Amino acid sequence: MGGLPKKAQQLEAVRGKKSPVLALDSGALLFKDEKFPQDQREQLTITAQGLVAAYSKMSFTAVGVARQDLAAGLPFLLAVQKKTNFPWLSANLLNRTERKPWFKPHTLITISGLRIAIIGLTAQGPDSIFTEKNNAVIAPWEEILPKEIAQLRDQADMTILLSSFPAPINRKIAEAHPEIHLILQGGNSQGNSPPERVNNTLITQVEAQGKSVGILEVQWNAQTKRWAEPGSENLLADKKNEMDRLGWQINRYLRHGDPEQAFKDQPEVLAAYNDMLARRKLLEEEIVRLTTAQNARDANRQQLSSYNNHFEAMRKELPDNPAIRAIVDATTSEVNRIGKVAVQARISGISSQPHEGPTANYAGSTACTSCHAPQFAKWRGTQHATAYDTLEAKGQQFNVQCLPCHITGPASQTGQEMLALAHDLRQVGCESCHGPARAHTLQPTGAKAGQPTMATCQLCHTGGHDDRFNFSEALSRLRCGSD
Ligand code: HEC
Ligand code: HEC
Ligand code: HEC
Ligand code: HEC
Repeated sequence: MGGLPKKAQQLEAVRGKKSPVLALDSGALLFKDEKFPQDQREQLTITAQGLVAAYSKMSFTAVGVARQDLAAGLPFLLAVQKKTNFPWLSANLLNRTERKPWFKPHTLITISGLRIAIIGLTAQGPDSIFTEKNNAVIAPWEEILPKEIAQLRDQADMTILLSSFPAPINRKIAEAHPEIHLILQGGNSQGNSPPERVNNTLITQVEAQGKSVGILEVQWNAQTKRWAEPGSENLLADKKNEMDRLGWQINRYLRHGDPEQAFKDQPEVLAAYNDMLARRKLLEEEIVRLTTAQNARDANRQQLSSYNNHFEAMRKELPDNPAIRAIVDATTSEVNRIGKVAVQARISGISSQPHEGPTANYAGSTACTSCHAPQFAKWRGTQHATAYDTLEAKGQQFNVQCLPCHITGPASQTGQEMLALAHDLRQVGCESCHGPARAHTLQPTGAKAGQPTMATCQLCHTGGHDDRFNFSEALSRLRCGSD
């Protein structure tokens, strides 16, 4: 949720301009994955509640229900919904026995006289995300959408779909339902996808984890309800540019006086000059023709709708919105407090040697000092050696959402195990890169320590946490070898 205060500030800036704004999200707001370990439930659900409070404060128009939002169970989301001031939309997440939607299927709003329908769709997948008691099922879009669209046909000037289905399915939806004018695609995408046109539908997506916001400015004509064909002006612009270049070249000849006189002894130069004059004449005619056509189209274009799209990355330098910053800070410190209570409940487990559970094969970084003093000294000077301290400084050392990348040990550790970690496995230690090496410390030549590859680094240096990661450059900054 780190980028939210910046996102809120961007939204406020957009709202400060004249035209009305719809703030929409296709879902996967609350949780990253469809499942999480049970012992992380308390911290993750508190984070989710903080997110919902922030989105309510940001006055979102509507949010789609994605499968990830159901990770804490359907009852949790239904309860959360009551505390939000925006609707959660899903037309196809149904009560299994009655076939009625659990959430609002769509919402209708009017801005500046324009009636807009927003429909939600939840991606299908294994039904194991529900329990028997939930009495829930996700219906196919083919069954649900035709009814929704028929119902909304006379009520809306524009129809928007919030869909967490993947891109190929959204394209099919667009082909089947040209009445949908815009699909905002959700799901875990690594990048932004600018609007793609399928028939009369635009499909666009903002990358996962709130790293960017997408801003789509729309000029909508409610009579024709059609997007204009893009790019027809380009040809005219190209011709005008060529004309400019040609004019400049011709002027260079003219600087020598009348070319017919100046170049009368250089027939090939004169020929080139005359070719340019001929080309200019042709261009002039073409520009007149294209401009006339353009003007005719412009008259027609008034009837059509247009858009302008850009993505704004949530860069560190962007300002925070103070109200949302306060919600985020209160949430993260509450999450940390809960983790701390969990640690205190298991205080006897901390610092116990040898390590237990999934870290039983780990020796801890200090165990390497005796034989690898130079590598140890070098490592002490890197930020890896203080990665846990970094969390401590932020008051987040008990947050199980942060720990996996700021400590040593296998990714499979549970929340409890990470919280009760031995002191010498805090920080990103030797064994984060070289793998568990207890056996090696006991029998150095018999049991070799592992060597990291790029994939090892990328367990932590993911797009979401380090989008500038460059393996060879990063390696050169912290290699263990003697130099
Ligand atoms: C008792 C001494 C000793 C301890 C303790 C020790 N090592 Fe080693 N390590 C060695 C020796 C000796 C070699 C060279 C082995 C060889 O060339 O076969 C070595 C080699 C390595 C290598 C190079 C691997 C290779 O295949 O060449 C790595 C990496 C390594 N150790 C990591 C560690 C880590 C991490 C720790 C702490 C968890 C550690 N070692 C603890 C003695 C030790
Ligand atoms: C277990 C997670 C983890 C793994 C594995 C990991 N890193 Fe890191 N790395 C981090 C964290 C966390 C930080 C930031 C620590 C901080 O600032 O407190 C970091 C920081 C860095 C930095 C900045 C360090 C500095 O001192 O300037 C570099 C460079 C880097 N890592 C490279 C790598 C490379 C290369 C690999 C693989 C060979 C790797 N990391 C593997 C978690 C990891
Ligand atoms: C998927 C792995 C991962 C997770 C999870 C993670 N971090 Fe990090 N973190 C990193 C890496 C990698 C770096 C180093 C990035 C760099 O060098 O630019 C880092 C750097 C940092 C830094 C120092 C640089 C900065 O951005 O100011 C802080 C502070 C930090 N993390 C806090 C957190 C907190 C708080 C959480 C939990 C909410 C968290 N991290 C969760 C991988 C992770
Ligand atoms: C961020 C990942 C990372 C961490 C943390 C790390 N190493 Fe390494 N280590 C490497 C890489 C990569 C190599 C391969 C050689 C190179 O490119 O530097 C290496 C090589 C080695 C070698 C091989 C001998 C040599 O000098 O080339 C030893 C020994 C070693 N590391 C020990 C350690 C010890 C001990 C620690 C902890 C104090 C440690 N490493 C922490 C990534 C790491």
